Amino acid sequence: MTDGATSSADVAAIAEAVQLSCRFTTVRDEQTGVHLERIGHFTRVIVDGLVDDEVIDLRTADLIHLLAPLHDIGKVGIPDAILLKPGPLGEAEWEVMKGHTVVGRRMVDQIVATIRLDDPELVTTMNNVVELHHETMDGRGYPHGLAEDEVPIEARVVAVADVFDALTTERAYKPAWTIPETMAELERLVENNRLDGRCVAVMQRSVDRLAEVGRSATDTAG
Ligand SMILES: [Fe+2]
Repeated sequence: MTDGATSSADVAAIAEAVQLSCRFTTVRDEQTGVHLERIGHFTRVIVDGLVDDEVIDLRTADLIHLLAPLHDIGKVGIPDAILLKPGPLGEAEWEVMKGHTVVGRRMVDQIVATIRLDDPELVTTMNNVVELHHETMDGRGYPHGLAEDEVPIEARVVAVADVFDALTTERAYKPAWTIPETMAELERLVENNRLDGRCVAVMQRSVDRLAEVGRSATDTAG
Protein backbone atom coordinates (compact mmCIF):
# COMPACT_ATOMS: atom_id res chain seq x y z
CA MET A 1 0.00 0.00 0.00
CA THR A 2 1.10 3.58 -0.56
CA ASP A 3 0.14 6.65 1.34
CA GLY A 4 -1.07 9.81 -0.40
CA ALA A 5 2.28 11.60 -0.11
CA THR A 6 4.25 8.75 -1.73
CA SER A 7 1.65 8.42 -4.39
CA SER A 8 1.75 12.10 -5.39
CA ALA A 9 5.58 12.02 -5.35
CA ASP A 10 5.42 9.08 -7.75
CA VAL A 11 3.01 10.96 -10.00
CA ALA A 12 5.30 14.02 -10.03
CA ALA A 13 8.33 11.87 -10.85
CA ILE A 14 6.50 10.15 -13.67
CA ALA A 15 5.20 13.46 -15.03
CA GLU A 16 8.86 14.53 -15.39
CA ALA A 17 9.77 11.21 -17.01
CA VAL A 18 6.90 11.53 -19.50
CA GLN A 19 8.02 15.05 -20.47
CA LEU A 20 11.60 13.88 -20.93
CA SER A 21 10.68 10.85 -22.95
CA CYS A 22 8.49 12.97 -25.27
CA ARG A 23 11.40 15.35 -25.79
CA PHE A 24 13.81 12.48 -26.58
CA THR A 25 11.31 10.98 -29.01
CA THR A 26 10.87 14.31 -30.78
CA VAL A 27 14.63 14.66 -31.30
CA ARG A 28 14.76 11.41 -33.26
CA ASP A 29 11.44 11.54 -35.06
CA GLU A 30 9.55 14.83 -35.10
CA GLN A 31 6.33 13.31 -36.40
CA THR A 32 6.12 10.84 -33.52
CA GLY A 33 6.88 13.64 -31.03
CA VAL A 34 3.97 15.76 -32.30
CA HIS A 35 1.78 12.65 -32.32
CA LEU A 36 2.50 12.11 -28.62
CA GLU A 37 1.41 15.65 -27.80
CA ARG A 38 -1.86 15.23 -29.70
CA ILE A 39 -2.53 11.85 -28.07
CA GLY A 40 -2.35 13.57 -24.68
CA HIS A 41 -5.04 16.04 -25.75
CA PHE A 42 -7.35 13.44 -27.31
CA THR A 43 -6.96 11.19 -24.27
CA ARG A 44 -8.10 14.03 -22.00
CA VAL A 45 -11.32 14.37 -24.00
CA ILE A 46 -12.02 10.62 -23.77
CA VAL A 47 -11.24 10.21 -20.06
CA ASP A 48 -13.33 13.26 -19.11
CA GLY A 49 -16.29 11.65 -20.89
CA LEU A 50 -15.65 8.30 -19.21
CA VAL A 51 -15.70 10.06 -15.80
CA ASP A 52 -19.03 11.71 -16.72
CA ASP A 53 -20.35 8.27 -17.69
CA GLU A 54 -19.05 6.80 -14.40
CA VAL A 55 -16.89 4.25 -16.23
CA ILE A 56 -13.74 5.41 -14.39
CA ASP A 57 -12.99 7.72 -11.47
CA LEU A 58 -11.08 10.99 -11.69
CA ARG A 59 -7.78 9.59 -10.39
CA THR A 60 -7.80 6.84 -13.02
CA ALA A 61 -8.68 9.45 -15.66
CA ASP A 62 -5.77 11.66 -14.58
CA LEU A 63 -3.34 8.71 -14.62
CA ILE A 64 -4.41 7.62 -18.11
CA HIS A 65 -4.05 11.21 -19.35
CA LEU A 66 -0.64 11.56 -17.69
CA LEU A 67 0.71 8.29 -19.07
CA ALA A 68 -0.83 8.17 -22.56
CA PRO A 69 2.08 10.09 -24.19
CA LEU A 70 4.41 7.27 -23.07
CA HIS A 71 2.55 4.64 -25.12
CA ASP A 72 5.07 4.50 -27.99
CA ILE A 73 8.20 4.86 -25.82
CA GLY A 74 9.39 1.47 -27.16
CA LYS A 75 9.84 2.96 -30.63
CA VAL A 76 13.27 4.19 -29.52
CA GLY A 77 14.24 0.50 -29.79
CA ILE A 78 13.12 0.23 -33.43
CA PRO A 79 15.86 0.70 -36.08
CA ASP A 80 15.67 3.91 -38.16
CA ALA A 81 15.41 1.88 -41.39
CA ILE A 82 12.05 0.61 -40.17
CA LEU A 83 10.78 3.45 -37.94
CA LEU A 84 11.45 6.14 -40.55
CA LYS A 85 10.77 4.11 -43.70
CA PRO A 86 8.55 6.22 -45.98
CA GLY A 87 6.88 3.30 -47.81
CA PRO A 88 4.82 0.39 -46.45
CA LEU A 89 6.62 -2.12 -44.21
CA GLY A 90 7.36 -5.69 -45.35
CA GLU A 91 6.13 -8.58 -43.23
CA ALA A 92 9.41 -9.06 -41.32
CA GLU A 93 9.76 -5.29 -40.79
CA TRP A 94 6.20 -5.14 -39.49
CA GLU A 95 6.99 -7.86 -36.94
CA VAL A 96 9.92 -5.75 -35.69
CA MET A 97 7.70 -2.66 -35.53
CA LYS A 98 5.09 -4.52 -33.48
CA GLY A 99 7.85 -5.21 -30.98
CA HIS A 100 7.73 -1.58 -29.79
CA THR A 101 5.06 -2.71 -27.29
CA VAL A 102 7.26 -5.27 -25.53
CA VAL A 103 10.40 -3.13 -25.84
CA GLY A 104 8.39 -0.33 -24.23
CA ARG A 105 7.26 -2.60 -21.42
CA ARG A 106 10.89 -3.50 -20.65
CA MET A 107 11.72 0.22 -20.54
CA VAL A 108 8.81 0.86 -18.18
CA ASP A 109 10.02 -1.93 -15.89
CA GLN A 110 13.38 -0.17 -15.76
CA ILE A 111 11.76 3.20 -15.00
CA VAL A 112 9.72 1.64 -12.19
CA ALA A 113 12.81 -0.02 -10.69
CA THR A 114 15.08 3.02 -11.11
CA ILE A 115 12.81 5.55 -9.48
CA ARG A 116 11.36 2.94 -7.11
CA LEU A 117 7.71 3.58 -7.95
CA ASP A 118 5.41 1.91 -5.46
CA ASP A 119 2.00 3.27 -6.44
CA PRO A 120 0.31 0.10 -7.76
CA GLU A 121 -2.34 1.85 -9.88
CA LEU A 122 0.27 4.13 -11.45
CA VAL A 123 2.57 1.20 -12.29
CA THR A 124 -0.24 -0.97 -13.69
CA THR A 125 -1.63 1.87 -15.79
CA MET A 126 1.83 2.64 -17.17
CA ASN A 127 2.49 -1.03 -17.98
CA ASN A 128 -0.85 -1.43 -19.74
CA VAL A 129 -0.72 1.82 -21.72
CA VAL A 130 2.70 0.92 -23.11
CA GLU A 131 2.35 -2.84 -23.60
CA LEU A 132 -1.32 -3.23 -24.53
CA HIS A 133 -2.31 -0.18 -26.62
CA HIS A 134 -2.47 -2.28 -29.83
CA GLU A 135 -4.70 -4.99 -28.35
CA THR A 136 -8.27 -5.07 -29.75
CA MET A 137 -11.62 -6.27 -28.41
CA ASP A 138 -11.75 -9.18 -30.92
CA GLY A 139 -8.42 -10.67 -29.80
CA ARG A 140 -6.68 -9.92 -33.11
CA GLY A 141 -4.40 -7.20 -31.77
CA TYR A 142 -0.83 -7.49 -30.50
CA PRO A 143 1.42 -8.36 -28.71
CA HIS A 144 -0.69 -10.91 -26.77
CA GLY A 145 -4.00 -11.19 -28.67
CA LEU A 146 -6.01 -10.30 -25.54
CA ALA A 147 -9.77 -10.00 -26.01
CA GLU A 148 -12.80 -8.29 -24.48
CA ASP A 149 -12.46 -7.89 -20.69
CA GLU A 150 -8.77 -8.82 -20.83
CA VAL A 151 -8.09 -5.46 -22.49
CA PRO A 152 -7.92 -2.84 -19.71
CA ILE A 153 -9.65 0.52 -20.05
CA GLU A 154 -6.35 2.48 -20.23
CA ALA A 155 -5.28 0.44 -23.27
CA ARG A 156 -8.70 0.93 -24.91
CA VAL A 157 -8.57 4.70 -24.40
CA VAL A 158 -5.10 5.02 -25.92
CA ALA A 159 -6.07 2.74 -28.84
CA VAL A 160 -9.02 4.99 -29.74
CA ALA A 161 -6.97 8.20 -29.37
CA ASP A 162 -4.19 6.63 -31.45
CA VAL A 163 -6.51 5.65 -34.34
CA PHE A 164 -8.24 9.05 -34.23
CA ASP A 165 -4.88 10.81 -34.45
CA ALA A 166 -3.57 8.56 -37.23
CA LEU A 167 -6.65 9.15 -39.40
CA THR A 168 -6.87 12.93 -38.85
CA THR A 169 -3.15 13.42 -39.58
CA GLU A 170 -1.71 13.78 -43.08
CA ARG A 171 0.78 11.03 -43.95
CA ALA A 172 3.02 10.44 -46.96
CA TYR A 173 0.50 7.88 -48.24
CA LYS A 174 -2.80 9.62 -47.38
CA PRO A 175 -4.37 13.03 -46.75
CA ALA A 176 -5.74 14.02 -43.33
CA TRP A 177 -9.27 12.66 -42.96
CA THR A 178 -12.02 15.03 -41.80
CA ILE A 179 -13.51 14.50 -38.35
CA PRO A 180 -16.84 13.17 -39.78
CA GLU A 181 -14.92 10.68 -41.98
CA THR A 182 -12.81 9.66 -38.99
CA MET A 183 -15.80 9.22 -36.69
CA ALA A 184 -17.53 7.04 -39.30
CA GLU A 185 -14.44 4.82 -39.42
CA LEU A 186 -14.26 4.64 -35.60
CA GLU A 187 -17.93 3.56 -35.54
CA ARG A 188 -17.11 0.86 -38.10
CA LEU A 189 -14.21 -0.34 -35.93
CA VAL A 190 -16.57 -0.55 -32.93
CA GLU A 191 -19.08 -2.57 -34.99
CA ASN A 192 -16.24 -4.92 -36.01
CA ASN A 193 -15.31 -5.34 -32.32
CA ARG A 194 -11.91 -3.71 -32.70
CA LEU A 195 -12.33 -0.58 -30.54
CA ASP A 196 -14.16 0.19 -27.28
CA GLY A 197 -17.65 1.55 -27.99
CA ARG A 198 -17.79 3.66 -24.81
CA CYS A 199 -14.63 5.58 -25.76
CA VAL A 200 -15.90 6.16 -29.31
CA ALA A 201 -19.31 7.28 -27.96
CA VAL A 202 -17.52 9.94 -25.88
CA MET A 203 -15.63 11.14 -28.96
CA GLN A 204 -18.86 11.21 -30.98
CA ARG A 205 -20.44 13.68 -28.54
CA SER A 206 -17.20 15.68 -28.11
CA VAL A 207 -16.39 16.49 -31.74
CA ASP A 208 -16.27 20.24 -31.07
CA ARG A 209 -13.65 19.75 -28.37
CA LEU A 210 -11.71 17.32 -30.56
CA ALA A 211 -11.65 19.84 -33.39
CA GLU A 212 -10.32 22.56 -31.05
CA VAL A 213 -7.71 20.19 -29.68
CA GLY A 214 -6.63 19.20 -33.18
CA ARG A 215 -6.20 22.82 -34.16
CA SER A 216 -4.22 23.88 -31.08
CA ALA A 217 -1.95 20.79 -31.28
CA THR A 218 -1.26 21.55 -34.95
CA ASP A 219 -0.59 25.21 -34.15
CA THR A 220 1.90 24.44 -31.40
CA ALA A 221 3.57 21.84 -33.61
CA GLY A 222 4.09 24.40 -36.36
FE1 LIG B 1 2.08 2.04 -30.74
